[in-house]
Amino acid sequence: MSTTKTAETVSRLRCISCGATPDSAGEDFRCTACGDLLEFVFPGWSFDPAALKSLWLNRRTSREALDQSGVWRFRELLPHIPNPEEHVITLGEGNTPLYRLPRCARAVGVENLHAKHQGMNPTASFKDTGMTVAASSAHQQEFRWVACASTGNTSASMAAYAARGNMHSLVLIPDGKISWGKLSQSLDYGALTCQLRTDFDGCVRILNELVRQKPVYLLNSVNPYRIEGQKTAAIELMEQLAWEPPDHIIVPGGNLGNSSAIGKALLEMRELKLISRLPKLSIIQAHGANPFYRSVREFGGKKLEPMAADTLATAIRIGNPASWKKALRVLQATGGEVEEVSEIEIATAKAEIGADGIGCEPASAVTLAGLKKLRRSGFVKSGEAVVLILTGHLLKDPDFTIKFHRGDLFAGTGDAAEAVQAKSLQHAPVVLDADLGAVMAAVDAAERNS
Ligand code: F0G
Repeated sequence: MSTTKTAETVSRLRCISCGATPDSAGEDFRCTACGDLLEFVFPGWSFDPAALKSLWLNRRTSREALDQSGVWRFRELLPHIPNPEEHVITLGEGNTPLYRLPRCARAVGVENLHAKHQGMNPTASFKDTGMTVAASSAHQQEFRWVACASTGNTSASMAAYAARGNMHSLVLIPDGKISWGKLSQSLDYGALTCQLRTDFDGCVRILNELVRQKPVYLLNSVNPYRIEGQKTAAIELMEQLAWEPPDHIIVPGGNLGNSSAIGKALLEMRELKLISRLPKLSIIQAHGANPFYRSVREFGGKKLEPMAADTLATAIRIGNPASWKKALRVLQATGGEVEEVSEIEIATAKAEIGADGIGCEPASAVTLAGLKKLRRSGFVKSGEAVVLILTGHLLKDPDFTIKFHRGDLFAGTGDAAEAVQAKSLQHAPVVLDADLGAVMAAVDAAERNS
């Protein structure tokens, strides 16, 4: 039944700027003619959309590892990996829940608000969906070493998939600027973890030099296999919505691989008639790490000026995003908007998502903070359906959460006075004697304040 084989997908690499179609990619995944990024294209694609939908649905009941993955279930829309039984490295990624956010919806003033929680992946971030594809490609090409520069989630994911595929992994992370949760993951999964005294962009520069000198496979999102795997979040989302697209999808923007991937999937699904119209894809950045926002707003997307980035949402503390041209293309093709949000807006939105019983890491919360602004500007209307892409799990960065609830997050910063507004969302732990009366008094006090 469900494991029906379709013809292998034929894919090609193509440069996003000059259109060159190299037979294979160089070690840095950039076009040898013009230096820009490569992407996969699928010439001659032709499917019966109804048959494809039912094939994918049927695979959910299959016992095959490939079918159980929420990425490989959609393999018709991915580059083919030869001998998948031998080379595909899967941890059962994808298959992430779509939650309604009723309290957030009321607070924002929209009737229909959902969150697609990509933090519910095996290593607790969206990176796993791209990593299974790109790490499998590394395995198939018999690399002994894989490597990435990371703000913490890519490295956690890469280290896990490398371990599963018996490959060595090298992680370059900015010293002191990633959360302990993410760092601890790459240690446990056995990566060689180098904390460099620089920022993410500095780590990328070193890595690009390294891959030219050593046979190490680059697993950052310039690797187009990563983008292909990350497309599946959008495909799975449409399936969860019975192929009825929402009006808006909102994503955080850091290095801009994820927005590019989700946008690519939307465009391809429309081309294949899997969906009949395009949601608007909007991208939200932190004010302190907003090079893409400034590129679009100040320069009409004609250029991007790198910046020294700073935000407590360390996952998106990126000043020179590699995939900005890809992201610009999908922003324009879908008619989406770009926004920036402040540190307090991020912290507040994170606590609001938490109050809906869902939770996420700070970088994911920019989506709700951005939605509030898009609602105020009238870009999002009250009757429209909105999906936020939550990219990482709440437990990725407990330090941020605990400081927020204790009221310490903005202590000593210029935001301290304004942060008082968020007080009603804070739930600091109460330290009491081991005494029944004291606990009952705490419950009564909480009841009075609720
Ligand atoms: N949200 C989270 C939780 C992330 O970890 C990242 C990126 C983003 C959003 C932004 O996605 O880069 O595709 O625009 N983290 C990378 C990393 C850079 O190294 O883990 P993007």
